[in-house]
Amino acid sequence: MKRKVLLMGASGSGKTSMRSLIFANNPASLTSRLGATIDVEQNHVRFLGDLILNLWDCGGQDAFMDSYLTTQRSTIFQQVGVLIYVFDVESQEMHKDLEYYRDCLEGLRQYSPNAAVFLLVHKMDLVRDKGVTFDRKKQELKEQSDKGYPRPTAITVFGTSIYDESLYRAWSSIVHTLIPNAAVLSKHLTMFAAACSATEVILFERTTFLVIATSTARPNATDSQSDLDPTRYERTSELIKAFKHSCSRVREEFHSLEMELPEFTAVLDEMTKNTYVLIVVHDPTIETAALKFNVRMAKKKFE
Ligand code: GTP
Repeated sequence: MKRKVLLMGASGSGKTSMRSLIFANNPASLTSRLGATIDVEQNHVRFLGDLILNLWDCGGQDAFMDSYLTTQRSTIFQQVGVLIYVFDVESQEMHKDLEYYRDCLEGLRQYSPNAAVFLLVHKMDLVRDKGVTFDRKKQELKEQSDKGYPRPTAITVFGTSIYDESLYRAWSSIVHTLIPNAAVLSKHLTMFAAACSATEVILFERTTFLVIATSTARPNATDSQSDLDPTRYERTSELIKAFKHSCSRVREEFHSLEMELPEFTAVLDEMTKNTYVLIVVHDPTIETAALKFNVRMAKKKFE
């Protein structure tokens, strides 16, 4: 199954940087060396075995944008599953950015009216008052989006930066909309969590370490379970990606991780060819070896 994802936005807004971080495991510090994208760079990213993300990174210089909206219009906008539009939070040309954005929405309405739309207010690390700035931008973007026509699918706005976990939160949410059996996976993970007496179980995609699905909280969740940090998923993605990068620098391959702390035990292990599972347990009597054994036993179910 192939899903087309359009990555658009003004030149220099950060599209190629985020792509290289999420899909190519490059560190944020190397993104300043990336050159401008010429026309469209197409990539096929295998995601979860049979889902292929056909990622169209569309260079954002005016001449290219004009061409996408005229001569290449039908090629660009047809059969789109998701449009990701990136706005530089410090853009000096917001008026022009918004004009192009509205034109792209119109192209989408014509050729792919059911595509999901995600807007990223990017480079949030550059602003001081993040909350206020993001709310203002979000409001502005929602108003601009509503100017055209009522969309059948909602438009979601995220604040992102390549220098923290916010990028993983946004991208996990984006790919989540493309995974056909996400609800079934979550159900299986909830059963698996109960079998492990785990507080929580999280499934990550192998290359990107984006979150694919999580177990749902048990009805009789104790305090330690309801106290969990709401940014824990994206922070784990970011940390593991950084760790994997460090491993590759010393020519080691990352396989699995075990943590036994006074407060909790965690095991991160390969679940299938394309996924990793993280099991978090707050019961001190449960051994990591037992959790790893359970992963081995559950593999078939998740393949
Ligand atoms: P085109 O290919 O011309 O369309 O540009 P692009 O949108 O692909 O921009 P690119 O990814 O090449 O990034 C431009 C610059 O922005 C690079 O120097 C990046 O290091 C920088 N950048 C990307 N993301 C961030 C971010 O979150 N914060 C900050 N401060 N800089 C960023």
